[in-house]
Amino acid sequence: MTRTSSEFDNRFVAESTVTRQDLRSPVLRRSLRKPYPVAVRGEGVYIWDADGKRYLDFSGSAAVNFIGHGVREIADAMLEQVRQLEFVHTSQFTTPVTEEFAAELLDFVGEHFRGGAVYFTCGGSESIETALKLARQYQVEIGQPTRYQVLSRSQSYHGSTLGALAVSGNRKRREIYLPMVREFAHVGIPYCYRCDFDCADGCRNCGQQYASELERAIEEAKGEAAAFIFEPMSGATLGAVIPPPGYLESIAEICGRHGVLLIADEVMTGMGRTGRNFAVEHWQVAPDILVTANGLSSGYTPLGAVIVSKKVVDAIATGSGAFLHGFTYNAHPVSVAVGRAVLRRVQSLDLVGAADSSIAGTVGSALKTALESLRDLDVVGDVRGLGLLWGVEFVQDKKSKRPFPPERNFAGRVGQSALRRGLLVYPMQGCVDGVAGDHLLIAPPAVVTAEHIGWGVEQLRVAVAEAVR
Ligand SMILES: Cc1ncc(COP(=O)(O)O)c(C=O)c1O
Repeated sequence: MTRTSSEFDNRFVAESTVTRQDLRSPVLRRSLRKPYPVAVRGEGVYIWDADGKRYLDFSGSAAVNFIGHGVREIADAMLEQVRQLEFVHTSQFTTPVTEEFAAELLDFVGEHFRGGAVYFTCGGSESIETALKLARQYQVEIGQPTRYQVLSRSQSYHGSTLGALAVSGNRKRREIYLPMVREFAHVGIPYCYRCDFDCADGCRNCGQQYASELERAIEEAKGEAAAFIFEPMSGATLGAVIPPPGYLESIAEICGRHGVLLIADEVMTGMGRTGRNFAVEHWQVAPDILVTANGLSSGYTPLGAVIVSKKVVDAIATGSGAFLHGFTYNAHPVSVAVGRAVLRRVQSLDLVGAADSSIAGTVGSALKTALESLRDLDVVGDVRGLGLLWGVEFVQDKKSKRPFPPERNFAGRVGQSALRRGLLVYPMQGCVDGVAGDHLLIAPPAVVTAEHIGWGVEQLRVAVAEAVR
């Protein structure tokens, strides 16, 4: 049976499997209207479905996989830990693997976190919830109990649990849950391709104006602002948007001056993805709390981490002495063992160096050059990113930057065409105003080669042409 294109209105659909699958399943899937290919195996940059169809993972699923699929030594590390000790509760024990990996992660994040500590979770949203509560507790511990608000930015994404959703700006993902969440101020987000300030110098001077919005919001919070949370580089919501010069430095300075904790959300950008251990290093910004997940386990197990500066740990250690928070599965030994094995592989293969797009000859730089070549297409308005995290924004009219009508689902169609060709990308909508605006996120594992990149971008070019038709 042949289906119409409107039925293929979602991302990860392969026609081969689609035509044979029952839409109802005992699994409550993300969409009950679309069939999903059945993934059965992964190796290197490839995933195979049950039909034997091979996909080049050009998006690392959702900017998760960094070391490649099917790495034997990660499976070995997992098995060794399960055989030794599968689980203990953090109220009763700590484990050698947790203590060791926390120390290694503190080294990896660098000097600024010396003397700090790490809190392990099962992923991004749990880590964000942890960071928000930690920021609040810090303020109480230092004698600032009136501070509880967490300020954030529009067009951001910090997770799907209610606390994380409250500080997110992703309109579609929030809309129906808004009556259930406690909202604080959202300030504007610099988006240089569509700058709010009508500038003509590539946002060379807009950073200060965006940053001053935060200062106003802090003042309007009248002593109740506890923290500000931000993604150093925008993830899926805007598609790898880079901040203008001076912006993050000003944000950090403003927060420091007002006693507001700075929380960097590096769920997507951390662990080497942007060609630095953490994206904040591109701008020499030192957050008080840094949250990471995806690349931390590269997807081999659910794992997130909240990396906490000494200042914050000391406040609790010398205050009440206990962090009032916990999950049954925080610091799960098997996930932590995976994280440790992943970090060792990242370091032994110098995958952060491989991802660095500013150095000629790296795969990061090959990806940059290949994606930049798409600018010659009539519908490609912008190509932006760093390292192995890139966004390609589509427009109906290049001169006016007019987006496609949302109902055309342009990015989704590109994604479907790419998928039919065996290429996985991450299509998103809403970059212009939360509804309109189409873009793709490209974030392959760092074991991708220049040949894979050449093939992937070639397929993408054809996929775009098919979506235009
Ligand atoms: C920047 C950012 N923060 C938080 C999250 C939430 O992470 P998770 O989906 O693991 O809960 C995501 C997920 O993509 C993210 O990109």
